[in-house]
Amino acid sequence: MYKIAFVLLVLLVTACGTAKIAAPKEADALRAAEKFPGYTLADLQKGHMLYKENCGKCHGLKSPRSLDEAGWRKIVPPMAKKAKVNATTEDAILKYLVTMSK
Ligand code: HEC
Repeated sequence: MYKIAFVLLVLLVTACGTAKIAAPKEADALRAAEKFPGYTLADLQKGHMLYKENCGKCHGLKSPRSLDEAGWRKIVPPMAKKAKVNATTEDAILKYLVTMSK
């Protein structure tokens, strides 16, 4: 009985953790390419990595789904300045967040 409860708890915890900032998949990249011509899964994965590297230092990483595209376009520029990233990195992070947004 306890064993089952424990397994369920572990599943719940890991599910929540990964749902928060899920790794981008091929389907996400295909969706993104309609908006950003030539955009690939590798670009999306790079953006995901750069987001994790640069945007979780002062506060926890926000779920990409916590804002819509307009919201990310507004917040990323001032945050990129705070994170002191260059324009290329800012662009990669923005495209990742917009793609994975709600
Ligand atoms: C140097 C510290 C710092 C870094 C690095 C940083 N942030 Fe922030 N972030 C803040 C602070 C402070 C606030 C709250 C005050 C404000 O909005 O300026 C905030 C607020 C936010 C909010 C609004 C949260 C809310 O609930 O209203 C979002 C979204 C956000 N940051 C995203 C990002 C992203 C994306 C990056 C990476 C490009 C990033 N942050 C990097 C300090 C930082």
